[in-house]
Amino acid sequence: MCSRFKIARPIAAAKLLVACALAVFALSFNGGASGQDQNKSEQKTIDPKAWGGNHAGQPIPDYVHGDECLFCHRNNIGLTWQKNAHGVAVRQREDAPELTKMLESQPALAGVAKQVEYFLGSRHRVRFLKKDGYGKFTMLNAQAALGADGQTAKLIDYEKLAWDKEKFANRCAGCHSTAVDPETKAFSAFGLDCYTCHGSVDLNHSNNTSLVLLSKKRRNDAKVITSLCAQCHLRGSSSRSTGLPYPNNFVAGDNLFQDLEVDWARADDEKLNAGERHIWRNARDVALYGNESITCLNCHAVHGNSSFKHRRVLRAPICAECHQGEGFKNVKRYEVHSASCEY
Ligand code: HEC
Ligand code: HEC
Ligand code: HEC
Ligand code: HEC
Ligand code: HEC
Ligand code: HEC
Repeated sequence: MCSRFKIARPIAAAKLLVACALAVFALSFNGGASGQDQNKSEQKTIDPKAWGGNHAGQPIPDYVHGDECLFCHRNNIGLTWQKNAHGVAVRQREDAPELTKMLESQPALAGVAKQVEYFLGSRHRVRFLKKDGYGKFTMLNAQAALGADGQTAKLIDYEKLAWDKEKFANRCAGCHSTAVDPETKAFSAFGLDCYTCHGSVDLNHSNNTSLVLLSKKRRNDAKVITSLCAQCHLRGSSSRSTGLPYPNNFVAGDNLFQDLEVDWARADDEKLNAGERHIWRNARDVALYGNESITCLNCHAVHGNSSFKHRRVLRAPICAECHQGEGFKNVKRYEVHSASCEY
């Protein structure tokens, strides 16, 4: 539908966005007002699995590691990476002095504090990890709910402290570490390396930036972008080939939905918080409805650590996830929770 047009001029783009937005509005309106059959015939869906390929079950590709990327990109990306939620998704103890201090100030954790080597999380919740052989972590059951200052914390599940050897590999690794081997479930790097979003990068890209995913020249393929962000952000999905709650050897550029089984009904689940649901809704609009007018990147600047530019997107049904009433002053409050992540 809207996606077939190749847009050259901003005016045309703006008109098209309005047209798409109206079309979607009309569709959802009809869908709500009429019966099931009509709903189906009105909202055309496409097969999310139809394009591209995947690497499920294949060996992890060789890839250029973040240290190497940052050697050349230290002046743009390097400056903010250690403050980026993705950059600090898992940190070594010595790189997180504020969390180390928080840990050491908890009398209930005094018996285990010295063993903790890594922290998972940075904004709301923190988990405690230690290394357990190559590419594996053991995880403590206790959690710390961070206060708004990011330093004070309230402990959860700390009454009977225990380390779990299996949980991280079986339930968390695919989204909180990099390049997880589908056979051994060992990660090749802790935390989120550049590879998770940029894929296997060809080093010739320094002369020709169209060789690298998410460069200014390759930032407009809505399906590819949606797949690569959704590999981690559609929590509650599972791999068809492994049954694990994260994709099997997803490489940025792949079609996520060939391997990942997702429940699109979550996009309409009133019980889900808006922080989660707008993600489901946007991914569904692109992947299932073929509406490519808005992706995560219209609203989020990942390295800029900002969603400020979302204010410039033309009004669309997705805005109502977080805004109510006429203008945009009235923002709905929500709290993000996730059973997959135990918070
Ligand atoms: C490999 C997994 C993974 C991928 C791929 C990924 N994310 Fe994330 N994202 C996370 C995790 C984990 C966090 C939370 C990190 C933390 O606070 O511990 C996060 C946090 C975020 C946040 C909140 C940050 C904040 O500061 O409030 C946004 C927004 C976000 N991601 C958007 C994106 C977008 C857009 C993409 C695609 C370009 C993407 N993510 C790709 C795992 C991922
Ligand atoms: C399908 C991918 C996926 C899986 C599997 C997953 N997570 Fe997450 N996790 C995320 C994403 C994405 C976020 C960021 C969400 C947001 O901020 O809205 C996140 C956020 C978190 C946070 C909050 C960080 C913060 O400070 O805000 C914690 C803690 C967490 N995960 C722990 C876990 C644990 C423990 C497991 C395994 C039991 C796990 N997660 C499994 C994707 C995943
Ligand atoms: C969570 C996904 C994600 C991860 C991880 C990630 N990037 Fe990016 N990167 C993006 C996105 C999305 C863009 C497009 C611009 C934006 O949204 O900030 C981008 C753009 C870039 C750009 C172009 C900047 C520009 O001026 O347009 C460079 C260079 C880059 N990334 C390098 C890196 C390096 C180096 C790493 C690892 C340290 C990394 N990226 C990790 C998502 C990611
Ligand atoms: C040998 C140095 C070098 C290495 C290593 C390197 N890059 Fe680059 N990269 C460059 C140069 C030079 C450019 C083009 C100039 C620019 O935009 O910074 C570039 C451009 C980019 C762009 C596009 C920026 C734009 O303007 O659109 C992205 C994205 C990117 N690199 C990501 C990465 C990632 C991810 C890695 C690691 C996997 C990496 N680079 C490793 C030198 C390097
Ligand atoms: C129409 C704009 C828009 C689109 C499209 C969009 N987002 Fe968001 N998103 C936002 C805004 C605005 C926030 C709230 C930021 C804040 O609270 O400061 C947000 C919040 C988030 C958060 C943080 C939730 C939390 O509080 O922990 C994550 C993670 C996220 N978005 C990921 C994504 C991903 C992944 C996609 C693509 C599938 C996406 N978003 C598409 C506008 C958008
Ligand atoms: C995930 C939640 C979310 C979604 C979806 C969302 N917004 Fe927002 N919006 C916010 C939050 C939170 C703020 C206040 C802080 C900020 O700007 O990030 C905000 C602020 C704004 C503001 C500034 C209002 C003021 O008075 O300062 C505008 C304008 C705006 N949003 C427009 C939009 C439009 C247009 C859309 C749809 C294309 C949209 N928003 C979708 C969460 C969201």
